[in-house]
Amino acid sequence: MEKDLSKYRKSYEKGALLLTEVPENPLELFQKWFHEVDAFFIEDETNAMTVSTIGLDGYPKNRVVLLKKYTYEGFIFYTNYNSEKGKAIAMNPNVCLSFFWHGAERQVIIKGKAEKIAENLSDGYFESRPRGSQIGALVSNQSEVVENREVLENKLKALEDELEGKEVIRPKHWGGYLVRPVEIEFWQGRPNRLHDRIRYKLQDNYDWQIDRLSP
Ligand SMILES: Cc1cc2nc3c(=O)[nH]c(=O)nc-3n(C[C@H](O)[C@H](O)[C@H](O)COP(=O)(O)O)c2cc1C
Repeated sequence: MEKDLSKYRKSYEKGALLLTEVPENPLELFQKWFHEVDAFFIEDETNAMTVSTIGLDGYPKNRVVLLKKYTYEGFIFYTNYNSEKGKAIAMNPNVCLSFFWHGAERQVIIKGKAEKIAENLSDGYFESRPRGSQIGALVSNQSEVVENREVLENKLKALEDELEGKEVIRPKHWGGYLVRPVEIEFWQGRPNRLHDRIRYKLQDNYDWQIDRLSP
């Protein structure tokens, strides 16, 4: 099998990113871009991002998760702490998040350190989830091999019966991670492959050094 993709080409023309216009704090630029993408461009899930970890096997692995909150501190997503990514983070908290907002021709790449958020914050978010998602978190031993789909569906049914009329309590192995950024790169596609790349690097845990990178 062979498919030649060399004719897949696109000129990026929707925006520009100039050093003279960027704020001192990258979280403020992230917020601006996030709002713009939501308001002006076609993006199904603006908050979908990849999380890359270095696995116990030494390989990097990316997977998509949903960003649920961002603040000046960083970026929060929720998952199963016993999953492959959870085990990877326990060994090595250095992670990379990335967004590709194709409608806006923008990419954001964030290197940072992941840490579990406070239990009461995970409780609060868990309580806000639809009941189906709450029970789903109990059903799935995320990343473990499962014999077949029926096993999951039977477990779901059994739990639905068992918990009928009762509150679903967050399992301890499910919760949020906060990724505190140490580096954030903003990429805006431009014509002729002369894309704009602005990188913020954290200095002494406090100041952000801002540089333009070659595309
Ligand atoms: C659009 C989308 C959103 C997802 N959101 C989440 C999420 O918020 N949390 C999560 O644990 N997995 C989410 N997943 C599933 C993950 O990509 C992944 O399959 C799962 O977390 C297990 O990854 P792991 O085995 O590498 O730990 C999402 C997948 C997609 C495609």
